Amino acid sequence: MLLNDSFGSAPLARQAVQDLGASRIREVANAGMGNPDVLAFWFGEPDEVTPEFIREAASLALSRGDTFYTQNFGIPALREAIAAYSTGLHQPLGADRVAVTSSGVSALMLLAQLIVNPGDRVVAVTPLWPNLLEIPRILGGHVEQVSLQLRSADSGHPAVWELDLQRLLDALTPGTKALFINSPNNPTGWVITAAQQQILLAHCRKHGIWILSDDVYERLVYPDPDTVAEAAPASAHEAATAQQSEPVVNRDRRRAATTRALPCAPSFLDIADAQDRLVSANSFSKTWLMTGWRLGWVIAPAAVMPDLGKLLEYNTSCAPGFVQQAGIVALEQGEEVLGHTLLRYRAARDFLFDSLNAAPLREAGLVVPRPLGAMYLFFGVTGEHDTLGLCKRLVSKAGLGLAPGSAFGPQGEGYIRWCFANSIDRLAAGVERLNGFFAEGGFTDKN
Ligand SMILES: Cc1ncc(COP(=O)(O)O)c(C=O)c1O
Repeated sequence: MLLNDSFGSAPLARQAVQDLGASRIREVANAGMGNPDVLAFWFGEPDEVTPEFIREAASLALSRGDTFYTQNFGIPALREAIAAYSTGLHQPLGADRVAVTSSGVSALMLLAQLIVNPGDRVVAVTPLWPNLLEIPRILGGHVEQVSLQLRSADSGHPAVWELDLQRLLDALTPGTKALFINSPNNPTGWVITAAQQQILLAHCRKHGIWILSDDVYERLVYPDPDTVAEAAPASAHEAATAQQSEPVVNRDRRRAATTRALPCAPSFLDIADAQDRLVSANSFSKTWLMTGWRLGWVIAPAAVMPDLGKLLEYNTSCAPGFVQQAGIVALEQGEEVLGHTLLRYRAARDFLFDSLNAAPLREAGLVVPRPLGAMYLFFGVTGEHDTLGLCKRLVSKAGLGLAPGSAFGPQGEGYIRWCFANSIDRLAAGVERLNGFFAEGGFTDKN
């Protein structure tokens, strides 16, 4: 009381925290959450429960009494399992470079705490999941955004999101602390090519820039069988010319052959050396339908691991032991589930893509790119500059819950994100509501 009186003002959070943007996805969701009449596709979450064998592993661990603190870096068996999994997808990796985290978002926060100083300049490729833009700001970093571009549909090819690599290289000036990059990308489904990664890695090496790679969707890719090519470009020049056309499944030549039958997106982990300034964040949430478990991991250079250990101690100390046990089972036995998920999501993506491209909605001015990865369609609404308002009207008038593009940075304005990790029936019901909304003039009627 005395203290408050002597300061004479209300107790407030730090300025950087006050300045954070509130989530616009939440703003829309708050308008309809809990209402059984609303069909919600606003969050990035599958409509299926975690597979039974993973749930059983956790139950078993709990009934064994696995209720104690674990090592900061995670239990050795899980670190080993992650190292083996990553080695199977990318290059050989030792468990000493792996840290288990309590979710993917916690992995990102820890990594940002590890590298971002107040005042540091961070470059992020956008549109981007809002957490990745706000995390460096919490730490006092300045985020500069380089926007992906939408290439419109031409001669039978659907519209796609693309990176203007030169613009990104120009933004990564000497003195920049870090590049924050998420591929496959939430919300656009854009997937970086191996050739672009090579050029970026070389550039960042030259200028001592960290790469923070958010790899949580690396297994959710839908390579187009027609565009699979065998050879990756050999030189930077070849790579530069091939960068826009190279298919999603191309691999850098140095990449260890994957020991897994299912695909994986090109990764900086395929090409980086152990001592490069590269940190990767990953999660169990999307690949094995484990959003509510809050389990993720980090791969980092050995030199920073002792400092990362301190941050783990002061953030969460460790992930729950019984959850970590479930993680081991997911990594070691989860490929079949992933195979099922990929078939389901590909069919869902194709259904939604075709439905939004069909006559009535095309007439409403929807511009629908086809995502190559992740689990979202990020489509444009021609002439719309207030997608937050539009998404609120969709909730109140059509009972349809979608995420406004402006939640993903200013470049996302004019777009809407639809999570397609859902059954076709559910998606079809959503499309019907969108068609009804259009038929009743909802796109133009702002009331
Ligand atoms: C791009 C991206 N990174 C990280 C995460 C974090 O996932 P989680 O915290 O559930 O592990 C998400 C979740 O939506 C995401 O979309």
